[in-house]
Amino acid sequence: MGGALVRNPSLRRMIEKTVAELKIRTFVETGTSNGITSIWAANLFDDVYTIEIDIDKALALVDDFKGHPNIHTFYGDSGELIKPIVMGMTRGEKVYPGIHEPAIFWLDAHGPDYQPPLLEELQVVFDHPYDDIIYIDDAQYYWLQCFVQWPTMDEIRNLLDGYALALVADAMIAYPPKWGKFMRTLTESERRSTYIPEEGIG
Ligand SMILES: C[S@@+](CC[C@H](N)C(=O)[O-])C[C@H]1O[C@@H](n2cnc3c(N)ncnc32)[C@H](O)[C@@H]1O
Repeated sequence: MGGALVRNPSLRRMIEKTVAELKIRTFVETGTSNGITSIWAANLFDDVYTIEIDIDKALALVDDFKGHPNIHTFYGDSGELIKPIVMGMTRGEKVYPGIHEPAIFWLDAHGPDYQPPLLEELQVVFDHPYDDIIYIDDAQYYWLQCFVQWPTMDEIRNLLDGYALALVADAMIAYPPKWGKFMRTLTESERRSTYIPEEGIG
């Protein structure tokens, strides 16, 4: 798989500019892995929600995240957890109010040998009544249908009605009309970006 967001200068720059310009304050990451993207995001956003299904990875991060109280970690399947995170939930004594403004979603919970929860995640973001920006990592694998259990581009596209799509580095980026002008300029400013008009992806 392509690796951490934080290691990709184009994507990092795009998100930093988006935060500066659009004042988006919340970052949701599915697939925490070793947490380096979460820590980078914690220095940029007010709140970072990150979900990891591998208990060993989740436990290994407890110390790393100690100095970052704005990182909210969740252990489990992001296909199930993303909805209560977005809608609001209580966990033990802690109340998570939900996300009531636009957020950036970095959907990165996948591996080659199993079905990623991308469609469940996209449904939740689509139902979230705010102008979210969605980054789906490792786009080439969806696009080229490299793994049989992964959703097809048609299935993905069907859940993104009204969003425009762009491809930068190896991330598919979906954004709503409200941010169209800004996001088009941003994606086009990155050397390898390809803007895909709303009519279809060909
Ligand atoms: C490509 S890595 C994530 C990299 C990380 N987001 C970054 O930018 O540094 C994928 C991670 O997703 C996790 N994962 C896979 N399926 C998942 C699921 N259903 N729910 C949550 N995490 C999942 C894997 O255990 C793995 O740690």
